[in-house]
Amino acid sequence: MKFITLTYLSWIILVLGCSKDTNPSEGMSTNLRDIPYTPIIYEADIPEYFPQLEQPTDNPMTLDGVFLGRNLFYDPILSIDSSLSCSSCHLPDKSFTDQLAKSPGVNGKLTPRSSMSLINVGFYYSGLFWDGRVQSLEEQAIHPVEDVIELNNTWPEVVKRLKRSSEYPEMFRRAFGINNSDEISKDLAVKAIAQFERTLISSGNSKYDKVIKGLAAFTDEEQLGFDIFFDRDPELPDGECFHCHSAPLLTSNDYLNNGLVAAEEFEDFQDIGHGMVTGNRIDNGKFRVPTLRNIEFSAPYMHDGRLETLEDVLDHYNSGGQISKGKDALISPLGLSKDHLKALRSFLHTLNDEDFMSNEDFSNPKG
Ligand code: HEC
Ligand code: HEC
Repeated sequence: MKFITLTYLSWIILVLGCSKDTNPSEGMSTNLRDIPYTPIIYEADIPEYFPQLEQPTDNPMTLDGVFLGRNLFYDPILSIDSSLSCSSCHLPDKSFTDQLAKSPGVNGKLTPRSSMSLINVGFYYSGLFWDGRVQSLEEQAIHPVEDVIELNNTWPEVVKRLKRSSEYPEMFRRAFGINNSDEISKDLAVKAIAQFERTLISSGNSKYDKVIKGLAAFTDEEQLGFDIFFDRDPELPDGECFHCHSAPLLTSNDYLNNGLVAAEEFEDFQDIGHGMVTGNRIDNGKFRVPTLRNIEFSAPYMHDGRLETLEDVLDHYNSGGQISKGKDALISPLGLSKDHLKALRSFLHTLNDEDFMSNEDFSNPKG
């Protein structure tokens, strides 16, 4: 019975939407009061040793809010020519990145930096993007739509399309209790996208997590890699990795220079990274430490995708990196043998979280 009522209502909205379409100068306006608004809090499934998932007080996660955000995330309606969506550069089966050094946007032009994995993105509280230029997921979601290289659209245009859609007015009503399709706004759209992104949490089923929980054991090689990564054995050379890629998220979210780019002076960095955000030259060449969860699936590596493989990354750290102004003191030659590097590589493999990537709740709702 409920199903019939819903279908009937969607049908009315569709008809109203279409009839208004014939006169585009008139504002779209559909009364939504008859559609129920019964928000149910979304209970995130978080591994118990993870930090708290903070949510803005004016944007608590609800089942219908997350569902709306998931639809928007996968919908090319956000791009100027309806060709790309957020998921074009953040693909679920690639841990929500795209395995490209730079990503083509709507006009085929490439983004200046590499797309980022969105695994556990709800826990990154010290700024988003490689340089930290926005503070919240709500604020972040505004940008790709307006970015001329990415979706090259405007929010007024997106909002117009959403109001006119046969599906979205009802979804916004269920998510946010709006009374009329006129109330659909950029603000509510980015809130919903942020709610969906906060659900993108590790499954807790990677081998690394299972070992933490006492449900599995490392092989000897993985254990050796673990000990080097976390500086656990005085007999072994220290890898120093954990200072920056700290457990449990495998990132400290600090802004640091890991010696990637040769630069004699702070002014010599082509992409100044965090320095652009703080305006302080000593932050030039610093980028946010990325998570290593699911790192296997997000090659090529670093903010500009300059390193092809994890072997290249490990060689980089073992060499101590380039001469680079402001390079962190922890980045210096490590003296790791071939076997040590192989062991580190095996340890990184235990961070694979396949259940995260195949989670149907994160997939395109339209299949
Ligand atoms: C054309 C490719 C492209 C599209 C489309 C795109 N992104 Fe991105 N995304 C990127 C790139 C590249 C970065 C890193 C940019 C930088 O740091 O300057 C990024 C970064 C992010 C981040 C920051 C993650 C972090 O850990 O700081 C989030 C969140 C994000 N995108 C979400 C979205 C959402 C939501 C959409 C759709 C509204 C979207 N992206 C559309 C390429 C894309
Ligand atoms: C001083 C802090 C620091 C240390 C120590 C460090 N890293 Fe990093 N790591 C970073 C930063 C910062 C980046 C991003 C740099 C960039 O893109 O410009 C990064 C990037 C990476 C990446 C690429 C991630 C991606 O998504 O592209 C991998 C893999 C990585 N580090 C592994 C390691 C391993 C393994 C070790 C130990 C051998 C290690 N790191 C030690 C700070 C550090």
